Amino acid sequence: MRKIVIAGNWKMHKNQAESLAFVQAFKSEVENVGENQEVVLCAPFTSLTAMSKSLHGSKIKLGAQNIHWEDEGAYTGEVSGNMLTEIGISYVVVGHSERRQYFGDTDETVNLRLKAAQRHGLIPILCVGETREQRDAGEIENVISNQIKKGLAEIDQSNLIIAYEPIWSIGSGDTCESTEANRVIGIIRQQLDNKDVPIQYGGSVKPKNIDEIMAQSEIDGALVGGASLDPASFARLVNYQS
Ligand code: 13P
Repeated sequence: MRKIVIAGNWKMHKNQAESLAFVQAFKSEVENVGENQEVVLCAPFTSLTAMSKSLHGSKIKLGAQNIHWEDEGAYTGEVSGNMLTEIGISYVVVGHSERRQYFGDTDETVNLRLKAAQRHGLIPILCVGETREQRDAGEIENVISNQIKKGLAEIDQSNLIIAYEPIWSIGSGDTCESTEANRVIGIIRQQLDNKDVPIQYGGSVKPKNIDEIMAQSEIDGALVGGASLDPASFARLVNYQS
């Protein structure tokens, strides 16, 4: 059975005090979440240590938003796998379109970051997705297959999550039709050696559309930006109605 993973990607939101206030309000909301489901908060680095202490013994897991491929060295502004595992981090987002667009991540560096995550026992969440122009030009299958092929070169598929995030739907309120997201995720799955890799949908996931998204046969969870910032809204997402 494929694991269900609902993850909040806070991006560059919430200082430490705000992160802890969220945890206090949200902690009790995961009581009815099933055994087969993971709830993950991918918070800024500055919040992770305090959140990790506050979440000790809770079902809620923590994720980071970046990892460098080396274990240490002269890489100003980067963070390594052992820095993350030391403070109890379980997941790490890799290859998010914002990292690719603004910070120069390529399929090659994404692949190196994925390998580093696995080497340290972290579960990477590999993000892939097409731009509006690529979709309109009918290049979607090509773009996604390339990202998957290059990103996953020599990667252990038993310790991995993939998130399909069409770039045009991120932060735009323009959610991809759930049947279309299901179709693309099916195409991604066909390309994998391990068909049980959980594949999430991401892009304007909200309380009003989560149930429909999660009802799709290929979709195993969601990677959520804006709607994960409010405890009540994220609680509705993790307790989706199936
Ligand atoms: P939104 O949910 O704000 O569209 O962001 C999606 C995303 O980029 C999650 O990684």
